[in-house]
Amino acid sequence: MDMDMDMDMKGPPATKKALVAHVLAAAAAALVLIWCVHFRGGLALRSKADDKQLIFNVHPVLMLLGPIVLGAEAILCYRSLPLARGARKKAHLALHAAGLAAGALGLYAVFKFHAESGIPNLYSLHSWVGAAAISLYALQWAAAFLAFFFPGASPPTRRRAAPWHAVAGLLVFVLAVGTAQLGFLEKLTFLQGPPLRLPKYGAEAMLVNFTALVVLLLGVAVVLATVTVDGTRYNTIM
Ligand code: HEM
Ligand code: HEM
Repeated sequence: MDMDMDMDMKGPPATKKALVAHVLAAAAAALVLIWCVHFRGGLALRSKADDKQLIFNVHPVLMLLGPIVLGAEAILCYRSLPLARGARKKAHLALHAAGLAAGALGLYAVFKFHAESGIPNLYSLHSWVGAAAISLYALQWAAAFLAFFFPGASPPTRRRAAPWHAVAGLLVFVLAVGTAQLGFLEKLTFLQGPPLRLPKYGAEAMLVNFTALVVLLLGVAVVLATVTVDGTRYNTIM
């Protein structure tokens, strides 16, 4: 195998640990599709003049399927795919690339929706945290590609960089989960105002809040499946 064999993880792949996260990821993907297709009328990148909302709908779907669901699967595959390290690395890299691409298209959709509807850009907390999250996600991908794949840093540098990469990666992922929470809240608040005035306890409101909750739990499950708790650290407690 290649030079970074010495950075391999000990023990069997943690396939079981990732199971809850896989289920939550699949549920989040299904729920956001049910919301945007069944309740919100579907998706379109080009709109008929009367329904710009269909362009907006692409945004939550791709932001969830991209940086969140594919991002989660990319993080989990590092530990849980029963493959050789080199193959897991390629799967990790490719899944994150797909997540980033979907995220970029999802952002394009919301900016297009704003441009065509005369809505200003980047006015909300959601949009600010979101811009930071997607920028950091792209930066994380590019830095990791250069350090771990091509051209690749020296083995000692990679060894020192790997734990920082893992921590930074989890932070970026958590930031994306937080952004999605703000996004669901904001959109639901818009829908509950005029002209639609969706009922506060209606089926759609419950669906949106429940979807956000599943995304939150997915974030927790991914972090728990990834971190290693250091049992030697508190041995001075009597
Ligand atoms: C990782 C996930 C997400 C990221 C990085 C993200 C990022 C962004 C950004 C940067 C904007 C600003 C667009 C502009 O100014 O033209 C935006 C707008 C918006 N997003 Fe998201 N978003 C995410 C997920 C979601 C989700 C799940 C929803 C749920 C419906 C959502 C709802 C909205 C809404 C309603 C807007 C328009 C209002 C505004 O600009 O705040 N977003 N998003
Ligand atoms: C936005 C993109 C990325 C994110 C969020 C991310 C996140 C993570 C996380 C959370 C881990 C720890 C996994 C675990 O310990 O179970 C990890 C490990 C790793 N990632 Fe990434 N990653 C990204 C892109 C990349 C890319 C493009 C490469 C290039 C090959 C890469 C190479 C690695 C390597 C080599 C490890 C293993 C480090 C070790 O030996 O423990 N990552 N990544």
